[in-house]
Amino acid sequence: MASQSPIVDIHTHVYPPSYVDLLKSRSAIPYIRSFPPSPDLRLVILPAEDTASTSRGRPVGPAYYDITEKIKFMDLHSIDISVISLANPWLDWVPESEAADAARRINDEVDAECARFPGRLFAFGTLPLSGGSEVIVREIERLKTLTYMRGVILGTTGLGKGLDDPELLPVFEALQNAKLAVFLHPHYGLPSQVWGERAGEYGHVLPLALGFPLETTIAVTRMILSGAFEKVPELQMILAHSGGTLPFLAGRIESCIEHDAHLKAKGRLGAGRKTVWEILKSNIYLDAVIYGEVGLKAAVQASGEDRVMFGTDHPFFPPLEEGTEKWASVETNYTAIKGALESSKEGMQGVLGSNAVRVLNLSI
Ligand code: URA
Ligand code: ZN
Repeated sequence: MASQSPIVDIHTHVYPPSYVDLLKSRSAIPYIRSFPPSPDLRLVILPAEDTASTSRGRPVGPAYYDITEKIKFMDLHSIDISVISLANPWLDWVPESEAADAARRINDEVDAECARFPGRLFAFGTLPLSGGSEVIVREIERLKTLTYMRGVILGTTGLGKGLDDPELLPVFEALQNAKLAVFLHPHYGLPSQVWGERAGEYGHVLPLALGFPLETTIAVTRMILSGAFEKVPELQMILAHSGGTLPFLAGRIESCIEHDAHLKAKGRLGAGRKTVWEILKSNIYLDAVIYGEVGLKAAVQASGEDRVMFGTDHPFFPPLEEGTEKWASVETNYTAIKGALESSKEGMQGVLGSNAVRVLNLSI
């Protein structure tokens, strides 16, 4: 898509070489190994993928760990700048005693990868979540000193009790003070029994298409209900996959809150409460990784055309056919942006890149 203003991909992952080595040294989820007779390496990160079927894990090629492949992908799809983030499941599973070192090593490695392509790559850092809140806050303060870090990627588990955990508030405050945005990304989905007895026949469709977005929606709704956005009023969150289903469900969530006798009895409905709509327009940004005009219009209406940002989810969702040039998953998102914002050139340029440049301060 020809455009004078930059195209910025804020949802694009890496598994840097030291993280790949860590995964190769393991035999429990998450791990990387081959399954003979095939010599090909497979990445297994979800219990649902760890079964002896042809869909066991995903193939891991250079697009996962070789940063020059990221640049080639960007060039192929006219992407000027990428804000790279470690892919799920991050360091959620690392033993407590190793968390601080692992986060430092990976964040330094990712920052150094950005330095190889100045101006083209920035990053969201990774937090040592299993290390406890003091260790996490120290890494947030260190991230602020790294040249290319513009925020952190975060899953939905927090310190183990979710993102509505009051013990997480010092972490959110540290992020607010450091002016680092949180890129909230799903990994765990929903309990596997919700997919039914025939789930194995449906590949990864149900957990990826529904489990991921619902996980994000639930995590952020719990944050809203806990009052996190009143307690840490400047916290900035970028929600993956256009907020899961949050733009579509915001009205229902808000109505359920307003009609809840328990919340009323606890005095939680009065002045000072931020509504879901207010939070969407002041604390939340949404990526544009929704693959359809209807969903993208909902994201733009819910948060504003100045708060939605293009993404690809590379290296996930490559074409299944070898030799295909441009990725359909990327082109679908470009088409949705074009369709949803055809009447607003400024809005389209914002979503494609200038919002990300402004919000994430993408200059060096
Ligand atoms: N699958 C994943 O595990 N992560 C993503 O970000 C996308 C697809
Ligand atoms: Zn992703």
